[in-house]
Amino acid sequence: MPSILILGAMSDVAQAMAHEYAGKGFDILLAARQVDRLEPLQKDLQLRHNIKAHTLEFDALNYASHAAFYRDLPVNPEIVACVFGYLGSTQKGLLDWKEASHILNVNYTGAVSILNVVASNMMERKHGTIIGISSVAGERGRQSNFLYGSAKAGFTAYLSGLRNKCFHDNVHVMTVKPGFIKTSMTQGMPLNPKLTATPQKIAKDIYKAADKRKNILFSLWMWKYIMRIITTIPEFMFKKMKM
Ligand SMILES: NC(=O)c1ccc[n+]([C@@H]2O[C@H](COP(=O)([O-])OP(=O)(O)OC[C@H]3O[C@@H](n4cnc5c(N)ncnc54)[C@H](OP(=O)(O)O)[C@@H]3O)[C@@H](O)[C@H]2O)c1
Repeated sequence: MPSILILGAMSDVAQAMAHEYAGKGFDILLAARQVDRLEPLQKDLQLRHNIKAHTLEFDALNYASHAAFYRDLPVNPEIVACVFGYLGSTQKGLLDWKEASHILNVNYTGAVSILNVVASNMMERKHGTIIGISSVAGERGRQSNFLYGSAKAGFTAYLSGLRNKCFHDNVHVMTVKPGFIKTSMTQGMPLNPKLTATPQKIAKDIYKAADKRKNILFSLWMWKYIMRIITTIPEFMFKKMKM
């Protein structure tokens, strides 16, 4: 059975991905901070899809634990998906370094720390796929979320370089750039329904794109064109806008 390791498995997108991949016959390694909270998902996956699902404790900020975490996995997964993230508050982060550094560390440093370990192992094996969930927020800094956006921009650049490095060892790296997704991260936000995806739609798009070894996936697709417009607005105009 092929298997996928999902980092940040309590997230709404991660849970949808777990069902999508389990439905395609993958065994699932679910990794999250509070492992006991994963049990209902583990049972549901095993019952519905007749696959094996494991639960593992993982904290993106516990950098020192990452090498041992990966070495001690019950199976060596074909695919690793880095799904965890933290939106946080830009306004709070401006005044409080604890909040700012938390945003930067979860979305960038933690992701780089674990994916360095994963990529090195996969390159040694000459086999594997890494899926990194970044964001369209990383395409251009905006006043509403520039701490989160700058961390995602860094993550996008990291994944691009990692893809280039890993290509030579038959390891594929896919960057996912979602627009809005209806999850607990965006709860209470006034999102345009036409531009907002469900976690299930994102999971299906990810499965299909990874299967075709796509490099970059925008989901929903129209975000590719929205971001193309946003990134071409001249800076002297952009700085006056409220975005
Ligand atoms: N929702 C959107 O509109 C949107 C748009 C673009 C990109 N994204 C990205 O999509 C991914 C999934 O987000 P989502 O919308 O599904 O959000 P979500 O439901 O809020 O999930 C975020 C997950 O990240 C986990 N996490 C936070 N800090 C962690 C840490 N230190 N170690 C391990 N896990 C940690 C959380 O774990 P706990 O359950 O333990 O708190 C939570 O399960 C994220 O990378 C996000 O940035 C989301």
